[in-house]
Amino acid sequence: MFASRLFVFLIPIFLCERTSAQGVSPEWTAAYSKAEQAVSQLSLQEKASLATGVGDFTGQCIGNTAAIANITFPGLCLEDSALGVRDTDGNSAFPAGINLAATFNRTLMRQRGIAMAQEFRGKGVNVQLGPYMNLMRAPESGRAWEGFGADPFLSGEGAYETIMGIQSQGVQAVAKHFINNEQEHSRMTSSSNVDDRTEHELYLHPFLRSVQANVAAVMCSYNQVNGSYACENNATLNGLLKTELAFQGYVMSDWYATHSTTSANSGLDMTMPGDIFLGIGSYFGDALVDAVNDGSVNESRVDNMATRILAGWYLLGQDSGYPPVNFNAKDPLSSENRHVNVQGDHASLIRTIGAASTILLKNQGGILPLNKPSSIAVIGSGAGSNPLGPNACLDRSCDIGVLGMGWGSGSANYPYLIAPLDSITNRSQADGTKVSSSLSDTDLSEAASVAQGKDVAFVFITADSGEDGYLVEGNTGDRNDLQAWHGGDALVEAVAAVNNNTIVVVNAVGPIIVNAWIEHPNVTALIWSGLPGQEAGNALVDVLYGVHNPSGRLPFTIAKSEEDYPAKVDASFSLTILEIPYTEGLFIDYRHFDAANITPSFEFGFGLSYTTFEYSGLDIAGQPISGPTSPPYGFGSSLDSSLHENVVNVSFSIQNTGPLPGHEVPQLYLAPPPSADSPPRLLKGFDCVFVPAGASVVVTMGLSRYDLSIWNVVEQRWTIPSGDFGIVVGASSRDVRLSSELTVV
Ligand SMILES: *[C@@H]1O[C@H](CO)[C@@H](O)[C@H](O)[C@H]1NC(C)=O
Ligand SMILES: *[C@@H]1O[C@H](CO)[C@@H](O)[C@H](O)[C@H]1NC(C)=O
Ligand SMILES: *[C@@H]1O[C@H](CO)[C@@H](O)[C@H](O)[C@H]1NC(C)=O
Ligand SMILES: *[C@@H]1O[C@H](CO)[C@@H](O)[C@H](O)[C@H]1NC(C)=O
Ligand SMILES: *[C@@H]1O[C@H](CO)[C@@H](O)[C@H](O)[C@H]1NC(C)=O
Ligand SMILES: *[C@@H]1O[C@H](CO)[C@@H](O)[C@H](O)[C@H]1NC(C)=O
Ligand SMILES: *[C@@H]1O[C@H](CO)[C@@H](O)[C@H](O)[C@H]1NC(C)=O
Ligand SMILES: *[C@@H]1O[C@H](CO)[C@@H](O)[C@H](O)[C@H]1NC(C)=O
Ligand SMILES: *[C@@H]1O[C@H](CO)[C@@H](O)[C@H](O)[C@H]1NC(C)=O
Repeated sequence: MFASRLFVFLIPIFLCERTSAQGVSPEWTAAYSKAEQAVSQLSLQEKASLATGVGDFTGQCIGNTAAIANITFPGLCLEDSALGVRDTDGNSAFPAGINLAATFNRTLMRQRGIAMAQEFRGKGVNVQLGPYMNLMRAPESGRAWEGFGADPFLSGEGAYETIMGIQSQGVQAVAKHFINNEQEHSRMTSSSNVDDRTEHELYLHPFLRSVQANVAAVMCSYNQVNGSYACENNATLNGLLKTELAFQGYVMSDWYATHSTTSANSGLDMTMPGDIFLGIGSYFGDALVDAVNDGSVNESRVDNMATRILAGWYLLGQDSGYPPVNFNAKDPLSSENRHVNVQGDHASLIRTIGAASTILLKNQGGILPLNKPSSIAVIGSGAGSNPLGPNACLDRSCDIGVLGMGWGSGSANYPYLIAPLDSITNRSQADGTKVSSSLSDTDLSEAASVAQGKDVAFVFITADSGEDGYLVEGNTGDRNDLQAWHGGDALVEAVAAVNNNTIVVVNAVGPIIVNAWIEHPNVTALIWSGLPGQEAGNALVDVLYGVHNPSGRLPFTIAKSEEDYPAKVDASFSLTILEIPYTEGLFIDYRHFDAANITPSFEFGFGLSYTTFEYSGLDIAGQPISGPTSPPYGFGSSLDSSLHENVVNVSFSIQNTGPLPGHEVPQLYLAPPPSADSPPRLLKGFDCVFVPAGASVVVTMGLSRYDLSIWNVVEQRWTIPSGDFGIVVGASSRDVRLSSELTVV
């Protein structure tokens, strides 16, 4: 409605909520007093049972704990995944975490959390096993698509908003996987060896944000950290999580990631699914009772485990009116499956997020949005449907038809999956456009003959990955390489050879190498559609036809060559423990490309719009001082409220100078002084602002002392270095629009 008028008005955009958490929030204090009261009524056996899953072959959910009649505790139902309720029906298949990251939109991150949790609650699930927040350290990493990409700040915001959304509906969220589980190969037999500063500034940050969101639970991972399993690692569980971050909830193991009963002493609170392996014994349960009796675990520790678990349950108000489980995740034929439809009106949010996460990477001559083309060719299997149905392959372990999510326990069943070919065909009727298609990836001559002479030729290519334990086209979890699957490069080249308006659409789990054809003069546009969930085709059509002016931004770098990335999945085999030193340290993704001056195909934070934006009027208010910003190392020292208080405001204006209304995604990067020994630029703020055509908005972003600090490994506290900090406002990590300096003495 604003498109045809040219005027300027100012909309102040206020700071997004950034909780300054104290060591322990009042919500936890109240939950603890209820939990302590309940625990005081329990026998040692009952306390141990709270901490122990009932075993893989028992219970309706993927994880279950037993009921305790005396305190009217019905037991817990724990269920995957981070994108929807797994192992059932009547649920939605939401966009994956990587697409939420691409929206750079906190509102949508929160709304997805709310909608997902409504579905978990509607199925009677107490604990949603998500969000996933391991960083995309290596772009091939099989499960990175479940999370929020390669930047710790963006991942932290994704984690925070998702948890706030989930827990607002009374469902417990689980921050996972703690910690340094950045690849699938050898995930149970490798040790991630990470230096203290890198751990704090990169991998721990999303967990800090999760604790600030009062997350009920944290899941420890399969791998070792510095040679000690993550579920019995005293330094990470008792040290980082429960001391430094003052985490009040409970730590559960990943499924079968417990290795000992004395893990309890190192900070593990609950073992899942409970048995040691496939129905055999347990490290907790009776073994925990025996350990108390022989003195290897103190009963006070078991009290604390039970208190933490019940506190999570009370924190979310699950002690009153929580619906019982109405499905059976393990037995599709069970009469316990009541087939409750919990989808509500979530399809429209899913479509909105799908469109908002679609990234326009190339748009030569403004070829998009489409303007009533007379003919369209649709090429590639990724435009169509799986003939056997979208749920034909176990946990989505195949790449047939449009790719809406990766595979493994991070998946969910689709209620339906809209194929791009169907959406394009439907939409084309309004313009009288003729649509022809070839859904083979390998019949290049058919692809060329269908594409020839058409106004537009869309080529759909894919790349899939997922969890270890499945074999998909030769990939066991992590991707074998970063090329498009099914010979996608050859398909693009075959079409571009005959059609001067070839538009490539990528549905992929992360970056793919596009170097073979991205400069081809006939490849006029490139769209990254990611893993948009059930409304894939409709969300894409909204962008193609300009219903949504594209606003997605890359949550990772697309390199010209796989060799340009600083870290790779280590796929080598070791008879003992595979040592994975994180030698790149702080320099993952764009931090490395910037430091080493390597030009990527498309940089982190990049994405085009159908309109144009101009930035002006950078104003920086506040004068922080150098030196320690957190108390000496101790309980809650990294959550100190003064550390997280905003001390700098950065504000500027954005004007929409083009013909269409749209969202811009301004990004705030900090360029620390040389004494910090940091990467050249660090993302520390972003927003996703709607600007009517011709209008201007003022954007303000705050920086806390924490945002300006580095982790001082000697003093074990956060510290602001002295010197000149560059304050860089960009439309991407490389597209600098405004910059200034803040001198800190
Ligand atoms: C229930 O709790 C009470 C304490 O409130 C205790 O005396 C009793 O033994 C418990 N009963 C069972 C069956 O555990
Ligand atoms: C986020 O996305 C929604 C839906 O497209 C939009 O209305 C809103 O302006 C965006 N930005 C923010 C900060 O919410
Ligand atoms: C792992 O080892 C490195 C190198 O000694 C050290 O800097 C880091 O703090 C250790 N991490 C943990 C969690 O103990
Ligand atoms: C475990 O970690 C805690 C918190 O950092 C520490 O106080 C304790 O000494 C550690 N215990 C062992 C056995 O290392
Ligand atoms: C049990 O508690 C006592 C007293 O606090 C302590 O000295 C001992 O180390 C603890 N034992 C274990 C196994 O944690
Ligand atoms: C087809 O398009 C029309 C309007 O263009 C829309 O109302 C309808 O929902 C679409 N149908 C499907 C199946 O997408
Ligand atoms: C681009 O497409 C046209 C057909 O429209 C074709 O004649 C030409 O050879 C193509 N260019 C290249 C570089 O393949
Ligand atoms: C493709 O070629 C046709 C015929 O030469 C021309 O009319 C059209 O503008 C070209 N399209 C693009 C996108 O270059
Ligand atoms: C930043 O802006 C907020 C909101 O307007 C204000 O309360 C705060 O005092 C400002 N801080 C600084 C350092 O200017």
